[in-house]
Amino acid sequence: MPELAIVLPTYNERENIGPVLSALQQALEGLDYEVVIVDDDSSDGTAAAARHFARHDSRIRVIQRINRRGLASACVEGMMASSAAYLAVMDSDLQHDERILPAMLAKLKDEKLDVVIGSRNAGGGSMGTLPGQRVALSRFGKKVGRLVTRADVSDLMSGFFVVDRRFLEEVVRSLSLTGFKILLDMLATSRRPVKVGEVGYTFRPRERGESKLDFLTGLEYLELILDKITGNWIPTSYLVFGLIGAGGVLVHLLILRLLLVIAGMPFLQGQAIASVIAMTVNFVLNNRLTFRTFRLRGADMWFGLALFYLACSIGLRINLKTAEFLRDQQISWYMAGGAGIILGSVWNYWVSSILVWRVTRRRLAARGRQTPLDVQ
Ligand code: GDD
Ligand code: MN
Repeated sequence: MPELAIVLPTYNERENIGPVLSALQQALEGLDYEVVIVDDDSSDGTAAAARHFARHDSRIRVIQRINRRGLASACVEGMMASSAAYLAVMDSDLQHDERILPAMLAKLKDEKLDVVIGSRNAGGGSMGTLPGQRVALSRFGKKVGRLVTRADVSDLMSGFFVVDRRFLEEVVRSLSLTGFKILLDMLATSRRPVKVGEVGYTFRPRERGESKLDFLTGLEYLELILDKITGNWIPTSYLVFGLIGAGGVLVHLLILRLLLVIAGMPFLQGQAIASVIAMTVNFVLNNRLTFRTFRLRGADMWFGLALFYLACSIGLRINLKTAEFLRDQQISWYMAGGAGIILGSVWNYWVSSILVWRVTRRRLAARGRQTPLDVQ
C-alpha cells in the first residue's frame, strides 16, 4: 500500500491534468505514492482526461462527484478514499510547488507532526506574483482566521499541506466543510494543540484556466468562521437567512417611507407594496446566497417565489400570534416581540429549505446532466 496519497481537487482543469501529473511523477521519484483526483463533474471533461492517464498508471485514481461542489469536501473525500498513512492536498493548477512534497513528508515523519503546511510566508516562501489585492485579501482572511484557531501558523489560508491520517481521523467528523479553507477547518476543529510544521515555497502564477475564487468563496469563508464560533449549534445557512431577513426589514421601512412621504400613499397600501418588494428582494438574495447550491431558475424560480410569498405570510401570522399571546401573559414588549420574530423566522427558514428550495430532496435526487461521463 502506498505510504503517501496526493489528493488533487479539480474543477474545470482539463489542460492542467497532464502537466500536474507529470510534475508529480518527477518530484516524487523514488517515493511510494498514489494520486487521487477528485473532480466535481467539470463540464470541460477534466475527469475523462484524468481517467485517460489513470488507465496507463495504476497509481492514479479518479473520483468524479456528481451534483456536488466544494473544494473542502472534495479534499476530504479524496483523503478518505485512500488508505495511505500520510495524505497530501495540493491544487491541480501547478500554483503549489510539488517539488517540496518530499521535504514536507520527511518533516512530518521525522518530527512526528500532525500537519506540515506548504507556506507562502515561511522561510524561503513567497506570494510570488500574486496581485496586491489578493495578497491584502489573504492577510485580512488570516486575521479573521486567527479568531478561531490558536495554532501559530504563518499561512493559515494555504490549500497545500500533508497530514498524518490519525490527525485527520480525529477531526474529520466535526469539520464544517464549507468553502475553500480545509486546513483552517481542520486546525480550528481540533480540541488539542496541533503539532504543525511549515515548509516555504513560492506561489506560482496560474498559467492555464481560471481561479475559482470569487465573491461567494469569500462569503463561504465568513460562514466557516461563523460556524466555528457558534460551534455547529446553529446552522450557518440559518444565520445567513436571518441576516438577509434583517436586511429585508430595512428595505421594507425605506420603501414604506418613500411611499408614504413622497408618493403620499395611504398607510395600508404602502405597507402592502413595501412587504411584497421586501419579500422579493429576500427571495432573490436567498436564491443567490443562502441556497446557492440549490439555486432555482426559470419556471422553478417563479413557482418558488410564489411559495415563498405564501410561506412568509404564514410566518408573519405566526410571528404576530406568538407576540400577541406572550403580551397577554404580561411578558415585556421586547421579549414578546423578539420571540415572535424568532419563531416566525424559524418557520420561514424551515419552509424555505424544505419546500421552496427543496434542499433535502434535491440533495438525494440527482439532477440529470447531459455531459458525457467519458470521452475517449
Ligand atoms: N473538486 C473541486 N470542487 N475542486 C475545486 C472546486 C470545487 O468546487 N473549486 C476549486 N477547485 C480546485 C481547482 O480546480 C484548483 O485545483 C484548486 O481547487 C484551487 O482552486 P483555485 O481556483 O486555483 O484557487 P486559488 O488559486 O484562487 O486559491 C488557492 O490557493 C490559495 C493559496 O494557497 C486555494 O488553494 C486557496 O484555498 C488557497 O488559499
Ligand atoms: Mn489556483
